[in-house]
Amino acid sequence: MSITIRGLNKIYPNGNHALKDINLEIPTGMFGLLGPNGAGKSTLMRILTALLEPSSGSVDVFGYDLTADRKQVRAILGYLPQDFRFFAKYKTYEFLDYAARLSGMNNRKERKQAVDSMLESVGLFDVRERYANRLSGGMKRRLGIAQALIHKPKVIIVDEPTTGLDPEERIRFRNLLSEVAEQGVTIILSTHIVGDISSSCRTMALMNRGQVAFYGSPEEMLKRTEGKVWRLKLRTDELDIVNRRYPVISTIPSGIGWEVQVVADDVAGFDAEPFPPNLEHAYVYFMENELNLWTND
Ligand SMILES: Nc1ncnc2c1ncn2[C@@H]1O[C@H](COP(=O)(O)OP(=O)(O)OP(=O)(O)O)[C@@H](O)[C@H]1O
Ligand SMILES: [Mg+2]
Repeated sequence: MSITIRGLNKIYPNGNHALKDINLEIPTGMFGLLGPNGAGKSTLMRILTALLEPSSGSVDVFGYDLTADRKQVRAILGYLPQDFRFFAKYKTYEFLDYAARLSGMNNRKERKQAVDSMLESVGLFDVRERYANRLSGGMKRRLGIAQALIHKPKVIIVDEPTTGLDPEERIRFRNLLSEVAEQGVTIILSTHIVGDISSSCRTMALMNRGQVAFYGSPEEMLKRTEGKVWRLKLRTDELDIVNRRYPVISTIPSGIGWEVQVVADDVAGFDAEPFPPNLEHAYVYFMENELNLWTND
């Protein structure tokens, strides 16, 4: 395991209980943290980077205790925050050079070499003279990854890095992360986009309302959703009833009526047949289930 989290709680000063008894084992490789807005992803990531103090619990990072060995933990971690901004005064290569200096790379020549090779590997060498805040959204994200990697950390934490990117840039960014993971860097990727997880992560956790609703592989999450997805052929007058009763994933016109996919343990009273789940179905299934548990107590 690269990171072990035990009994982690975070209560913000205003009383918000943002993390509730989180227990997670994060293996090496790419780990996906999926969850809707407000689930607690950023809170967890900021705790992992030692920027935010937990209220209780412990975190072990490659044998170091997050609270007791802050300095060592910071040295093996890289971080790309959710709202990363660049100072207007820096060109792309200058910014990376600045990040390298901050991380303690004092030798000028070595630093230049490291910066150039990093710019090359994230595909920004040709735009190195451009001001960082003038880069496109996708380029900014890649520069963000570059600054997180410049001191050769063992783990990088990237918080919602694909938000606002077009599909092509999103794929490019995902491929970049996969390359980084192949080089042996553990990546913790938080996202609310299901598609970010499926293609790249071997292990994942689904968070909701400060709790872990699922932990395992994406395949396992799919498996546990088998038999819970239904395709319904409906008349127009039935559509409203179904919409009110079940979480509907998709609705497409079919003949004189509708064909819809719903996620439910059981569907009674409609023309329904089982449908193979995808990760989006699984996401909805686990979120709904947790919601039900929550309303019952
Ligand atoms: N500084 C703070 N003080 C008080 N409450 C906070 C603070 N930061 C976050 N919260 C609350 O903690 C909960 C978790 O927030 P967090 O930002 O960790 O969620 P998130 O999963 O990252 O959401 P998003 O997808 O919107 O980024 C939310 O209810 C949020 O309002
Ligand atoms: Mg967040």
